[in-house]
Amino acid sequence: MDKTESPGVAEGVDALTLNNVSDEKLDKVPNGVEATENEGDVVDPWNVASTNDEGIDYDKLIKRFGSSKIDEELIARFEKITGKQVHHFIRRGIFFSHRDFHSILTLKEQGRPFYLYTGRGPSSGSLHIGHLIPFYMAKWLQEIFDVPLVIQLTDDEKSLWKDLKVEESIKLAYENAKDIIAIGFDPEKTFIFNDFDFIGKCPAMYQNMVRIQKCVTFNQVKGIFGFGDSDIIGKISFPAVQAAPALSSTFPFIFKGKKPVHCLIPCAIDQDPYFRMTRDVAPRLGFPKCALLHSSFFPALQGAKSKMSASDNNSAVFLTDTQKQIKNKINKYAFSGGRATVEEHRKLGGNPDVDVAFQLLKFFLEDDTKLEEVRSAYIKGELLTGELKKLAIEVVSPIVEEHQKARKALTDEAVAKFFEIRSLKFAQ
Ligand code: TRP
Repeated sequence: MDKTESPGVAEGVDALTLNNVSDEKLDKVPNGVEATENEGDVVDPWNVASTNDEGIDYDKLIKRFGSSKIDEELIARFEKITGKQVHHFIRRGIFFSHRDFHSILTLKEQGRPFYLYTGRGPSSGSLHIGHLIPFYMAKWLQEIFDVPLVIQLTDDEKSLWKDLKVEESIKLAYENAKDIIAIGFDPEKTFIFNDFDFIGKCPAMYQNMVRIQKCVTFNQVKGIFGFGDSDIIGKISFPAVQAAPALSSTFPFIFKGKKPVHCLIPCAIDQDPYFRMTRDVAPRLGFPKCALLHSSFFPALQGAKSKMSASDNNSAVFLTDTQKQIKNKINKYAFSGGRATVEEHRKLGGNPDVDVAFQLLKFFLEDDTKLEEVRSAYIKGELLTGELKKLAIEVVSPIVEEHQKARKALTDEAVAKFFEIRSLKFAQ
């Protein structure tokens, strides 16, 4: 999801204006060219950047996007209905925004079916740890709710947006699939597909793409995504490809005989424009609007002004990095919220909010008590930057090591199973 290097936005169009669209108002979008206050944050499917050390202002983003904050009330309802504590990504505000998640909880309460949908644009051979976030969430949701999950690999998207041959992006999709499978999804309940192979095998998907394409005008995609007159037509029609899996009839082999089934999409918030469009179209095609859980971005090692990027080797910890590389990268590049000298640090304390080593712990250290101890010791100056980095390395290294083991242990048959067109287990 290294959007930074793939400008999909027409020159001269302020990407920010594109986000000012709530899904109920697609028709009123003035081609996305109207300037709006942006306060330095850029978030769209191809660009994520902030001028602020603490990164994107997510509360403002919620307002701009017209989504809802994941608040205490929603969390309490979630815990009541599932009988489980919410994931630490939710507790810590890493997943911070949603659309219609209450409806999903109501379905759960009523014992009615729904499914999960997420995806990845395979733009590089190796994933970095930031890419794990939506997939960890999807896995946890799948376990909690016991529902099917579909994972779309948009090799077509990456071929259209990047200098990647069709054949190359298909290969990347398979490589990425292994990393995703290594996270530990249940093959009985998970279907993975890459567009280049699947669309030809599944007439229902193509039919839904065209149904969606019939509902959205060029003006509307210009407003939502900032496409311009000189963008290739592949980009202009692509949003329908990412929208189609949110309609359950795209997968007749999973949902055969079922009425339209609700869909819940965990994703990074930069993907929201696709699903605003999808939510606008779905009811017109007789489907419920998809629900969404939005995550924030994983900061680049250099700090929260940008996110980890697959195209910048030093910005991220990759799942292919050796233990030594991880240690060196974190020690050398992880932006520090500490003070210039030890004396000053002891006296004044550090700032965990901008400290990337602390952010690594916030994402990957599950123990709340331990995290709070570290945070408070850092603020008080008891814990030094070097010590904090050591803790981050101790937490991140085994995650990557375990991942590499799991990936290595995958057989071709085990991978093929996920791609097989087949029915999936439903709890309900
Ligand atoms: N466009 C996404 C990317 O570049 C990939 C994707 C496809 C996706 N379908 C999705 C992401 C659904 C989240 C949810 O990474």
